[in-house]
This record gives sequence, structure tokens and C-alpha cells, in this order.
Amino acid sequence: MADPSPILTVSGLKKSYEQADKPLEVLRGVDLEVHPGDYIAILGPSGTGKSTLLNIMGLLDRPSAGTLTIAGQNAASLSENSRAQVRNNKIGFVLQFDSLLAEFSVLENVLMPARIGGRALEPLKEKAFDLLKILGIESLAERLPTGLSGGEKQRATIARALINDPVVLLADEPTGNLDRPNAELVFGKMKELTDTLPVAVVMVTHNEHAADYASRPVHLRDGRITDLKD
Ligand SMILES: Nc1ncnc2c1ncn2[C@@H]1O[C@H](COP(=O)(O)OP(=O)(O)OP(=O)(O)O)[C@@H](O)[C@H]1O
Ligand SMILES: [Mg+2]
Repeated sequence: MADPSPILTVSGLKKSYEQADKPLEVLRGVDLEVHPGDYIAILGPSGTGKSTLLNIMGLLDRPSAGTLTIAGQNAASLSENSRAQVRNNKIGFVLQFDSLLAEFSVLENVLMPARIGGRALEPLKEKAFDLLKILGIESLAERLPTGLSGGEKQRATIARALINDPVVLLADEPTGNLDRPNAELVFGKMKELTDTLPVAVVMVTHNEHAADYASRPVHLRDGRITDLKD
């Protein structure tokens, strides 16, 4: 099969933070292409710039230099409004701590981004349920998040991030709060998602086990990406 064109590209990406003495250069020229169906795990110790990179890829922050292209659009040329639209329609976010709303059922939580986007919810219920099924928690659809295990909550959060059909799911340390079996379950489910849906996953983590599940495990080291096997 021909390699489809990337849905997200970062090229020569740099990010520095101003400090009292000299700037802190966190990203020093990151190049990365993300294709539909990719499952990229970015590994690296604390403080190497993983969140910085993910925040730039998610249009939550801006690079100091370099380019970011998402869904065919150069991020630098987008207005604030367009950036927000791309964030809402093309990108799904999953963070370390789940942020499910306690007073809504799991299914209602999954539908929340669609509700916020003003979409009709009834036709989306089946889809929300299907996402819960892929993630193995369809039996919890009517439950309130309170009382769910950490792993179950995190899988519900992933389903919620997918309801608006993002082209890419960005996950920042999604298993940081989970024990090893639950972390590996989440890594495995991310793989099933990229095998099943037209979505790419970019996950940053310092959990080395993620490398066993990803289609492309990479290291962020000295401000650059290197393939794990190199
Ligand atoms: N807004 C900021 N201002 C100044 N320095 C920052 C800022 N954000 C991050 N940094 C610094 O940039 C470096 C990279 O931070 P980042 O949060 O991206 O690392 P990380 O790889 O995600 O770490 P962790 O694994 O602990 O989450 C750190 O040294 C951090 O202190
Ligand atoms: Mg981080």
C-alpha cells in the first residue's frame, strides 16, 4: 500500500524558554511525521521536553522556530480562531489524570465534547457505545465515574477524546497514574484503536513498556527525536 500523506508533520521544531542567564533550549530541531494509523510512543526521562512537544503539536503552545503542519494546514498561518477550531475538530487530548465529570454517566461523559460542540447527541449514542466497546468498558456506560478503577476511567477518557473523530489523539503520560497491568491494558487499547479507526496516536510517556505496543517507539533525547532501535 502506498504510504498515505502525513496528517501531522513537525520539521526543525525548536523551543527555548527564557531564563535569567541563558535561554533553556528544550527542543533543538525535532522532525516527526505522523501518518493515519501510526501509534507513536515518545519516550524519555522527566524534563526532556515531551510535554512541551506535545503541547506544540496540539496547538496549545507555539514553537520558537520550525514548522508544524496539521491536516494540510501550516499552524503558523492560522488565526487564533482557526487554531481553536483545529484543536476541537482534529485533535483529541488525553492527559495523566482523568477529568471525567462526576455527575454524568460514562456514556454522557463520552458525549460531552459533542454536546459542547452543539452536535445532536441521539445519533451519536451508538458511536459512543461502540467506542466504549473497543475500549472494553461498554458494561460501564450507565455508571457514574465515581467507583470506576483508574484504568477504567482512563479508557473512558480515551473514548471521550475520540467522539469528534480527531485525526490524531495526543496523550500525555496517560498511564502515569496506573499500575503496570492497567498501563499495559491502556497501551494495548491504543494499539487496537489505531488498527480499527482512521486515527493516529502520539503518546508521550516514561514507561518503557509502551515501546512494546507502539508501531514506532522513539526517544526524545537532547532535544531531538531518535528511533529507539538506533
Ligand atoms: N513555561 C515554561 N517556562 C520555563 N521552563 C519551562 C516551561 N515549561 C517547561 N519548562 C522546562 O522545559 C523542560 C521540559 O519540560 P517538559 O514539561 O516538556 O518535560 P517532560 O519531558 O514532559 O517532563 P515530565 O516527564 O516530567 O512530564 C523542563 O526543564 C521544564 O522545567
Ligand atoms: Mg510531561
